Formats: sequence, C-alpha cells, structure tokens
Amino acid sequence: MERILQAALEAPSGKNRQNWRFFVLTGEKREAYLGLSQKSWLGIKDILEKRLKPSLYQFTERFFYTLGDAPVVILCYSANDRDEKHLTSVGSVYMAVENLNLAAVAEGLGCCTMGAPLEIKAEVDSFLGIEKLQEDGVEDLELLCAVVLGYPDHTPPRAPRQLENRVRWL
Ligand SMILES: Cc1cc2nc3c(=O)[nH]c(=O)nc-3n(C[C@H](O)[C@H](O)[C@H](O)COP(=O)(O)O)c2cc1C
Repeated sequence: MERILQAALEAPSGKNRQNWRFFVLTGEKREAYLGLSQKSWLGIKDILEKRLKPSLYQFTERFFYTLGDAPVVILCYSANDRDEKHLTSVGSVYMAVENLNLAAVAEGLGCCTMGAPLEIKAEVDSFLGIEKLQEDGVEDLELLCAVVLGYPDHTPPRAPRQLENRVRWL
C-alpha cells in the first residue's frame, strides 16, 4: 500500500499543487464504509438496470454490497483553490488516481475506481469528518472518487475499447 500510494503522489499536477488528498480506509472504518457503499447503490441502480444486462447488473449490485471483500478503500479528494481552474484541480487528482490504479495492478492487486460515492457526497464528507478538517484549515476539499483495492479472485473480461471517433488526426 505504501508503494501504491507513493506512485499516486508522484503524479503531475497543475502548477505542481499536488492537490490530491487520500483517505485510506481499512479495518473497522472500511467495514463502516460498506453501509455508505450500499446507500450509493440506490442512487445509480435505476440507470444501471436500464444499461446493463441482468447478469452484470446483479454482479454489480453484489459488488456494491460487499466491495468484493476488498480490504482497502481509498477516498480521493481534491483540495481546491480559488486561483486554480476547477478542471485542472480535478484532472490532477485523476492523474494520481490512474497512477494508483497502475501501481496496484503492477503489485498484483485488483482495483476498481468508483464514482458512485458522489451520489452521497455529503454523507461521505461527514463520515470522514471533512467539515472539521475544513474548519481547522483553509482547504476546500471535494470528493472525486473511491478506489477499492484487494487481491483479485478472478480475472474479469475486459470491456472492448471503442476506437471509432476517439482520435482524429488533422
Ligand atoms: C471516474 C470513474 C468512475 C467509475 N465509477 C464506477 C462505479 O461507481 N462503479 C463501478 O463498478 N465501476 C466504476 N467505474 C469503472 C471501473 O473503474 C472500471 O473501469 C471497470 O470496472 C472496467 O474495468 P476495465 O476498464 O479495466 O475493463 C468507474 C470508472 C471511472 C474512470
């Protein structure tokens, strides 16, 4: 985990602000987070029911309820700054999240980056005590995603990549 987090901290960032902030949940805190994961499912299940075939929908539902028994969840925040463009701040954190994903796979772990916690952003903030942190300091913290990490028990098929209209050479 230290090596994986180090890889995230090596990412490039706008104006080198290194505005990523990671909250690593393990043990009881990760257990407690399961309740929030289940709640976040309620926010997106209707859309997914329309989009996914039934077997994948059921698999995804089970994943939200168990997080695949993965022992670590990292909640990824941006410390925003009035003088920095919002998208630059967001993009910088996602650069770090990609490093984190790649390092996890290189270490033999499986991981899943999840935007679902954004469905219940305020609850995740209060779960972590973000308000208190903001009172104590000046950072404007914004939740961007979660990354779930653990040893994989299977190798899921990769979604085929669509190539059409993705790149235009001019
Ligand atoms: C910003 C972002 C948000 C995502 N949110 C979720 C999510 O909430 N739940 C989920 O199961 N997968 C989510 N995914 C998809 C997974 O991270 C992953 O890409 C997917 O399982 C397919 O894996 P593959 O791209 O290696 O084939 C998200 C991906 C990204 C980049």
